[in-house]
Amino acid sequence: MSPAPLLAFLGVTFLLPGVQTLNCQWGTTEIVRNVSQLPLTWTSSQTACEINEGCQETLLLIENGPQVSLVLTKGCTAQKDQEAKVTEHRAGPGLSITSYTRVCRHRDFCNDLSSTVPLWAPPSDTVPGSLRCPLCFSNDDCPQNGPQQICPAGYTHCYNGVVKFIGGGIASNLRVQGCMPQPGCNLLNGTQLIGSMDVTENCSPRSAIQTCNRGTMLRIAAGLSQKPVEWTTNQEENCNPGEVCQETLLLIDVGHKSLLVGSKGCSSPQRQDAPTVFIHSGSPGVLVASYAWFCSSILCNSAKSSSVLLNSLPRPAASAPGSLQCPVCVQFGGSCSQVSNFIICPNGTNHCYKGDIYTRGGGVSATLAVQGCMPESSKSLLKEAQKIGIFSVNEDFEGKTKDPLPPSSSAPAPYLALVAGLGLPVAFWCGGFLLPVKSIFP
Ligand SMILES: *[C@@H]1O[C@H](CO)[C@@H](O)[C@H](O)[C@H]1NC(C)=O
Ligand SMILES: *[C@@H]1O[C@H](CO)[C@@H](O)[C@H](O)[C@H]1NC(C)=O
Ligand SMILES: *[C@@H]1O[C@H](CO)[C@@H](O)[C@H](O)[C@H]1NC(C)=O
Repeated sequence: MSPAPLLAFLGVTFLLPGVQTLNCQWGTTEIVRNVSQLPLTWTSSQTACEINEGCQETLLLIENGPQVSLVLTKGCTAQKDQEAKVTEHRAGPGLSITSYTRVCRHRDFCNDLSSTVPLWAPPSDTVPGSLRCPLCFSNDDCPQNGPQQICPAGYTHCYNGVVKFIGGGIASNLRVQGCMPQPGCNLLNGTQLIGSMDVTENCSPRSAIQTCNRGTMLRIAAGLSQKPVEWTTNQEENCNPGEVCQETLLLIDVGHKSLLVGSKGCSSPQRQDAPTVFIHSGSPGVLVASYAWFCSSILCNSAKSSSVLLNSLPRPAASAPGSLQCPVCVQFGGSCSQVSNFIICPNGTNHCYKGDIYTRGGGVSATLAVQGCMPESSKSLLKEAQKIGIFSVNEDFEGKTKDPLPPSSSAPAPYLALVAGLGLPVAFWCGGFLLPVKSIFP
């Protein structure tokens, strides 16, 4: 065991006496193997736990005729100790599920299971029946004309479902097709929790159940284009068939003040293979930049902070002050107040910008008012962009010829009004997905 980490409290650093932390084996894996390849053995990495945490391990074997799917997680846990336990959630032949679970604290690396031996016995010989079922374990869709298996005698139904595991560092959808002795969507036989993993199944005929992180973020503060802020959610959402996950961040920095709008959730699929950072307007003058990602694996929209955007921004070159002065403002809600701050614009800018950016979609409905310095080459901040990740955007600025869209939101936004009224940095994670934002100034 190692001594507890140093704790810093009000600038004083001290060592907690007598408190020890544990080291545990650590790692996750998900593999499919032929039954003939079992038993399997493995080695694990290591991790140091927080105070009071124990070591956990959860191993799950799903047998499906000649194949077996293995899901393993090891690491630290706050759960209380639990003796090593082997549970048969569904007996074979055909599809069967067995797990090994344990939580311990009596010594470092006590979660030391290193093979399938304790919970695996070679399948007994079965009398083949007449039913044939597809044989599939896949994190994607199963192939149309994939391999088949001959089911045991007495088996009457082919199972076709998605088993979802979440917890202990695993987040996975496993599509399963195999032999069952009865109809229904009940491979798990009522099991909902296996060690540190929640398990659920779904047999709807459409594609795999996609699950995404979900939430919106609105922040207004100085320096959001320099200092990363946390961007996590505590909500998840089950998507409709065919949907993917998205995460989108929009940053507007006018100099002394900046604003960040973020959204995570399900989305209709978009063509985008990698996270995309886009600089809509840059130095000198108002900075508008965005990060967007659409991805199709479970809970893949899991960027933890705004550094996914900030790390891709060019470091602003120190620019000399020019001769122009502009009012600067960035605001949720209708328009900037009449008494905006003025700044001396950087060299290279030659006019002042004043406009509104309407942002809709991904749970956000906001009008973002912007004032700041602009270079000669540019009148618009968004350059005709209509989509930024999940957001539909529309820009209305002085001198624009087209008719602007009217702001659509009408619900009051008491939190925004309150905090913005105090002039403090604002940060919200909204529990509900729809976050209406409207003018907070008369
Ligand atoms: C499993 O066995 C089949 C045939 O026996 C073979 O074609 C396949 O490659 C094996 N799969 C793995 C993962 O070893
Ligand atoms: C399903 O679970 C129950 C109790 O949890 C058990 O008695 C039964 O044998 C299980 N069914 C199968 C097919 O394993
Ligand atoms: C301002 O920019 C212009 C070109 O845009 C350049 O010629 C000039 O030297 C710059 N002035 C300062 C003070 O940097």
